[in-house]
Amino acid sequence: MNLPNLKEAQKRTNKDIKIIKNDYKVPKEMKSIGKNKKYYIKTYGCQMNVHDSENIKAILEDMSFNETSEIENADLIILNTCAIRENAHNKMFGFLGRVKHLKDSNPNIICGICGCMAQEESVVNDIKNKYKWVDIVFGTHNLHKLPEILKDSIKDKKQEIEVYSIEGDVYENIPVKRDSKYKAWVNIMYGCDKFCTYCIVPYTRGKQRSRLKEDIINEVKELINNGYKEVTLLGQNVNAYGKDLHLNYTMGDLLEEVAKTGIERIRFVTSHPWDFDDNMIDTIAKYPNIMPYIHLPLQSGSDRILKLMGRRYTKKEYLELFNKIKNRIPNSSITTDIIVAFPGETLKDFEDTLDVVKACKFDSAFTFIFSPREGTPAARMKNDLSLEEKNSRLYKLNELVNKYALEANEKYLNKVVKVLLEDYSEKDKKLMGYTDTMKLVNVSADEKYLGKIVNVKITDVKTWSLDGELIDEKV
Ligand code: 5AD
Ligand code: SF4
Repeated sequence: MNLPNLKEAQKRTNKDIKIIKNDYKVPKEMKSIGKNKKYYIKTYGCQMNVHDSENIKAILEDMSFNETSEIENADLIILNTCAIRENAHNKMFGFLGRVKHLKDSNPNIICGICGCMAQEESVVNDIKNKYKWVDIVFGTHNLHKLPEILKDSIKDKKQEIEVYSIEGDVYENIPVKRDSKYKAWVNIMYGCDKFCTYCIVPYTRGKQRSRLKEDIINEVKELINNGYKEVTLLGQNVNAYGKDLHLNYTMGDLLEEVAKTGIERIRFVTSHPWDFDDNMIDTIAKYPNIMPYIHLPLQSGSDRILKLMGRRYTKKEYLELFNKIKNRIPNSSITTDIIVAFPGETLKDFEDTLDVVKACKFDSAFTFIFSPREGTPAARMKNDLSLEEKNSRLYKLNELVNKYALEANEKYLNKVVKVLLEDYSEKDKKLMGYTDTMKLVNVSADEKYLGKIVNVKITDVKTWSLDGELIDEKV
């Protein structure tokens, strides 16, 4: 048993990061353990977690399990959790109640918990003491050890908790079962050293560790060979790519090299305004296969709150960067993240945030009420706004955000845009996909166009999506 430890999770040393290429193994006796058995995996949170689940799926299939989308049919249930806000916590514990119910009627079901909540000391203590029926708990640093952890749990017939609060290394050659045949997530870095005062990620995901550019480029080339059209370069803070490798090779250089592989579409998330340099902006402007879409979290428009958040930029600096990007990449769409009701946020601070939203007219924004996360500095700050006031600020902000989102979409009416049709739409007989600028479009088109980048004429616009007609018949 190895339990997470908050103090250890905060540590950052000068320890060299190891690139470990041969640590993933499936013990012989585990290779067919899942024969005729099914697994169900529930994923909460961000793209990083979605991609981790793609790894977990492949690992389970290496042990002969098959996937099911019906939890009632599962012999093994994995919850890949998110710790970013309290409601993600609550949702996961709610769902765990459902799993308990299934396990009560079939004690042979194996239940596992992993992801960011598994890195939290208090959560794991709760699971250890109050949820003894959960079979395995593993963290973000050792998901490739799942076969061994499962083996020990089956052998010992007791709860197996293997979570490490370490800075972390980079593990290569972990198998992956990708959800899409057309677009792929590619990790370029793990962890984060920014320690924004509200954020739990530096504790749950460890120190910033960049993958070697050779490994990234090889992965992209392999994806091209397998017919993939789009890659999204993933990291908590992609603009800081390479800084830990000290090779004088930055995100702008990496973007350029990925662009030169010839993959049709390149995206990247998430950016921090702090490390967004001119080299990056110039590279995005130069290469048509780097999509003109940037997610640039603002968090707050008040200098006082930005300082308390530890964001290291001012309202003026954010606006300067925003305008620089818009000037260099005029067709770009920019979206953002905003937190309201951070401890001590006054009406004036909140109005500064609204000011920035009015100035930037974001294409869209994810908006959140501040949620105190145990162990982070902001959780200890005095926060005396009423729930009513918090909700009212969120509501006001959302009204403004939605207005600009609709305005941005209205500019697309009757225009022809390129869309990678990636899936069936929830709407009848339609396909869905995204524009270069990351606008969701529902398109009436035959399924033979799935996986193709096609020209679409926009016929209707809404706040969150566009409707369009296929005008490209040459496939
Ligand atoms: N409370 C509310 N929102 C948060 N985010 C991160 N931590 C918190 C928190 N404690 C938001 C930020 C970040 C996004 C992924 O989640 O806006 O950019
Ligand atoms: Fe969840 Fe961690 Fe992703 Fe945040 S970084 S959304 S906590 S998985």
